[in-house]
Amino acid sequence: MIIAIDGPAGAGKGTLALRLAAHYGLPYLDTGLLYRAVGRLMAERGLDLDDSVAAGAVAEALDPSHIVDGDLRGREAGELASRVAVHPEVRAALIAFQRDFARRPPGAVLDGRDIGTAICPDAEVKLFVTASPEVRARRRTDELNAKGRHVDYERILEEIRERDERDAGRASAPLRQAEDAVRIDTSALDIDGVFDLARAVIDAKR
Ligand code: C5P
Repeated sequence: MIIAIDGPAGAGKGTLALRLAAHYGLPYLDTGLLYRAVGRLMAERGLDLDDSVAAGAVAEALDPSHIVDGDLRGREAGELASRVAVHPEVRAALIAFQRDFARRPPGAVLDGRDIGTAICPDAEVKLFVTASPEVRARRRTDELNAKGRHVDYERILEEIRERDERDAGRASAPLRQAEDAVRIDTSALDIDGVFDLARAVIDAKR
């Protein structure tokens, strides 16, 4: 069984994906890490993020099994990721790894922006997990503040809106809900609520 989870930044995809993977005994791939690793490598090497050929070469040479998430999950890497993710060369270079991961028995849980639309269009389960930009910004601000990293809500909201625009507005595999995906709006739900809803959708399909 392949479970494809897509949606905008900060909607709670990762948390849901981890719980579903544990519940159904499936491996989990956070595909955002691939783009984050490419963005980070480009920055470390002083390469121009808008150079699609250079970015494609970095993605081609990436060994995803060696990605150490370290500080890749932060805001800066997220921004770098969305800059390099617009290049078709980068996306093409990362397809095979993602598809192989998904197709190996017994299947997998993958989360990202284009899993249900481009990477695994035949996935048995497609979820589109979303929430209003305000709710996502509020959650992210609280999360960072709880870690002692004081950030401004308005600033985070602006970053989220920019990322949504770039991810949904790009020509190559933009963020959008697959026609056969089930939409879960997490704005008014807690983690358990989201998990229960997703499980009900999945169990109905099995
Ligand atoms: O999900 P995460 O926030 O880690 O993704 C970082 C960025 O990587 C996204 O904003 C998006 O631009 C890009 N991405 C993508 N396709 C995916 C996963 C991530 O374009 N499947």
